[in-house]
Amino acid sequence: MQTLNLNGKPVAVQAEPETPLLWVLRGELHLNGTKFGCGMALCGACTVHIDGQPTRSCVTPIAVLGSRAVTTIEGVAQSAVGRVAAAVQAAWIARDVAQCGYCQPGQVMAATALLAVNPQPSDADIDQAMSGNICRCGTYPRIRAAVHEAAQALRATTHAPS
Ligand code: FES
Repeated sequence: MQTLNLNGKPVAVQAEPETPLLWVLRGELHLNGTKFGCGMALCGACTVHIDGQPTRSCVTPIAVLGSRAVTTIEGVAQSAVGRVAAAVQAAWIARDVAQCGYCQPGQVMAATALLAVNPQPSDADIDQAMSGNICRCGTYPRIRAAVHEAAQALRATTHAPS
């Protein structure tokens, strides 16, 4: 048994230490927002945040996590980057980004991690940060537009007079 620091709470899990986090999230904890894509860290569908860093949960054994903060798409709106995640999700809806939707939780997690550290990314910054997140539906132009829109919304609220 191991305790994960998951979405802001301690969560006890039964899985063996070498079990990939993705398997624990989906199979044991039924947090199915994080998707299984390739199982080899090549597609980004399984992206979660570990201490704020976008991380491929399919190749991350739970043994390496210790007390590090794991955030999934289910918990990101309530996390330390919740304001950023809310702006990203609003922009995703406004831009109607998703097509089949399968890759999109990972895309949202990657975009949120980017904007948390870079509030005004260039097209090149976006392309680089999102390059590990594959979309078989080719929604890349809408993803890029939505990241810019979220960044703009965040800057507007940051600079708004209180
Ligand atoms: Fe279908 Fe990205 S929206 S794989």
